Amino acid sequence: MSESKRRVGVLGLGHVGLPTALGFAELGWSVSGTDSDRIKVEQISGGGLPFYEPGMSELLQKHLASRRFRPLADIGLTVRDSDILFICVGTPHREDGSADLSQVEGAARSIAENLNGYKLIVEKSTAPVHTARWIERAILRYQNGKPEFEVACNPEFLREGTALRDLLHPDRVVIGAKSEKARCWLRELYEPLNAKILLTDLNTAEIIKHASNAFLALKISYINMVGDLCEAAGADVKDVAEGLGMDPRIGASFLDAGIGYGGFCLPKDLKAFISVAQEFGLSFSVLREVEQVNQDRIDRFVRKVQRALWVLKDKRLAVWGLAFKPDTDDIREAPSIHIASRLLQSGALLRLYDPQAMEAFRLVFPEEAERLVYCGSAVEAATSAHAILVLTEWQEFRTVDWPKVRQEVAVPMVVDGRNCLDRTVLEPLGFEYHSMGQPSSALHEVGVIR
Ligand code: UDX
Repeated sequence: MSESKRRVGVLGLGHVGLPTALGFAELGWSVSGTDSDRIKVEQISGGGLPFYEPGMSELLQKHLASRRFRPLADIGLTVRDSDILFICVGTPHREDGSADLSQVEGAARSIAENLNGYKLIVEKSTAPVHTARWIERAILRYQNGKPEFEVACNPEFLREGTALRDLLHPDRVVIGAKSEKARCWLRELYEPLNAKILLTDLNTAEIIKHASNAFLALKISYINMVGDLCEAAGADVKDVAEGLGMDPRIGASFLDAGIGYGGFCLPKDLKAFISVAQEFGLSFSVLREVEQVNQDRIDRFVRKVQRALWVLKDKRLAVWGLAFKPDTDDIREAPSIHIASRLLQSGALLRLYDPQAMEAFRLVFPEEAERLVYCGSAVEAATSAHAILVLTEWQEFRTVDWPKVRQEVAVPMVVDGRNCLDRTVLEPLGFEYHSMGQPSSALHEVGVIR
C-alpha cells in the first residue's frame, strides 16, 4: 500500500485525540475521528471545539475544509475505514488510585467487532504497563473472524495549552512495537517531523510515559519543598531554582514553585504509577511523598492568606485564575477548586476572574452562588477587594494596569500563588506582596525575617 493512502483513525476526541487527529491531518494524512459522545462529534463537525486550546480552532476549520479530517459519529465506520487506529480515550483514576481502563476496553471491543483487514492499533492514552497486552487479548476475544492486527504503544506527551506545538515539534517520539511493519508504519507517520524517535518494546513504552509524568510531578514537589525552606530561612526559591536549573543534569524547566500541580494528567498518572508498582510488590514511597507535598500546598497557601489578612470572614477576595494552568479552560484537579472551597468555608466572599475557565467553574459550587461573584476582567474582580489572590499565571495578569488596580482595591494586598508577578512593580505602588517560597514583604516589615 502506498503510504499516502494509509488512513488514520482516532478513537476519542478529547484533549489528546483531537490535537492528535488534527496534527496528523496537518502532516498530510487522511484522518477520521470518533467519540462516544455524539454531541461532541456534532460540535466538532460544525467547526466548534469542546474545549479551549490555542491554535486548534484554526486547524479544525482548515482540515474540515481540506477534508483531511472527518469527524464520524460511527465508531465502526472509523475502524473499518482506517489502517492505523489510535486509542485516545480517557483513563481516569478509580477510588483506589488505579487506572480505570473501561474506555480502553470499550475501544478494543469496538475495534474487534469491526476488523475488516490488517490494522495497526496504537495505544496513545496513558495507561499502566501491560495495557497493550490486554488490548491485544480483548481484540482476540471479541473479534469476528481472524483478521490480522497488531497492537503498538506510542505515548502522547502533549501539554494542554501547547498541545499542537508539542505534537508538531516533539522532543521525542516513543514507539513501542513488536514487528518491523508496525515500527515502519509509525515511523512513516511521523517522518515529516524529523523528530528523535526511540524504538522500544511495548512494556517499556508504557513505563516511559508513566515515569515521565511522575518525574515531572516529583520535580514540582521537590522545588515546592525547597521553597518552604527558602521561605522559613529567608531565601528566594526563584533564584535557587535558577541555580539548580543551570546544571544540565537537573534542567531548568518544571522548577516553578507555587500552589502545586493540577490537571487531568499529573495527579492521576502519579496515582496510577504508584498503584501499578504496588501490584508488582513495590512501594514507590517517594511518589507518595510527592503527592503529600502537593496536597500541602493548598493548606500553606490558605494559611498565607489568613496570616496576611488575619480574619477571612466577610473579606472580599479577588481570585485571579481558575484554570489548572494558563492557556486552557480546564479546571480538572485545579488547585483553585480546593483553595476556593477552603476560603468559602472561612466565610470569605470571592470575586472570580479567569480568561477562559469561568464557564466550567460556575458548575463547581452551585450552592454558593451568593458568595461567588463572576467578573468580566481582572480589574473588575479586584474592585473593592481586600486582597488579590493569583492562582493561575495568565500572561494578562503580569501586564495588568497596576496603578488602576491600586485605585480600585480596598486593601492593596497581593498573594501570588504562582510567583508570576514582579514585586518591584507592585511594592512602589503600595501593594503588600506575598508569594511562595520567597521572603514576604510584610514579614520583613515586622522583622520576623532578619
Ligand atoms: C502533562 C505533561 O506535561 C504532558 O507531557 C502529558 O502528556 C500530559 O500531562 P499537562 O497536564 O497539560 O501536561 O500540564 P503540565 O504543563 O505538565 O502542568 C501540570 C501542572 O503542574 C499545572 O498545574 C502547572 O501549573 C504545574 N506546574 C508545572 C508547576 O506547578 N510548576 C512547574 O514548574 C510546572
